[in-house]
Amino acid sequence: MPSQTQYEPKPLPFAKDLIGISKKTLEIHHDKLYLGYVKKMKEIAEQIKEMIESGKGLETANQTYSQLRALKDGETFATNGVYLHEHYFNVLGGTGEPKGSLVDSIAEKFGSLEKFVAAFSASGMAMRGWVVLAWDTHIGRLKIYGADAHNQGGVWGCIPIIVLDVYEHAYFIDFGSDRAAYIADFWKNFNWGAANTVFEKVKTITL
Ligand SMILES: [Fe+2]
Repeated sequence: MPSQTQYEPKPLPFAKDLIGISKKTLEIHHDKLYLGYVKKMKEIAEQIKEMIESGKGLETANQTYSQLRALKDGETFATNGVYLHEHYFNVLGGTGEPKGSLVDSIAEKFGSLEKFVAAFSASGMAMRGWVVLAWDTHIGRLKIYGADAHNQGGVWGCIPIIVLDVYEHAYFIDFGSDRAAYIADFWKNFNWGAANTVFEKVKTITL
């Protein structure tokens, strides 16, 4: 795997037109915003690497303001901006047809797939940035978490499986302020096969 300074951005993993979400939205979302986060993540990683190598800037570290503080704050914002968007794009481009062991595990955990979709979608209405169905390695279970920003609300030791971007840039061009309609179409475009592939990789990990 490449180091963060060498990170290669991932292309959109699908070519088909989506239901409700326009090509224009996807183009801005992937090519401008996501690629912008990759660029900043690499830039920050390079600067931190230089700082560690030279030692210059470490001695002035300060929690009110310092160069290192600005870099560390930007590092989690940019990196989560990259990783969360990759998870989000990864589960788009499907048919919305539920299948696989993830569906069974979700039904077991939440009572039914419908109850999970209702809870996850409502969480998307409640949060300002992200909703994540994660594999929580501390409890060895699926869990829905939410975040208001890339570097806020994430829980350590959790691996994202289903990620929904609820920032306005994800839907405003196509849906205006109707976020509920965007979330309903998210499920119509959902790629259960892709989500299952992630789930199969992580479902036995516990700390
Ligand atoms: Fe986004």
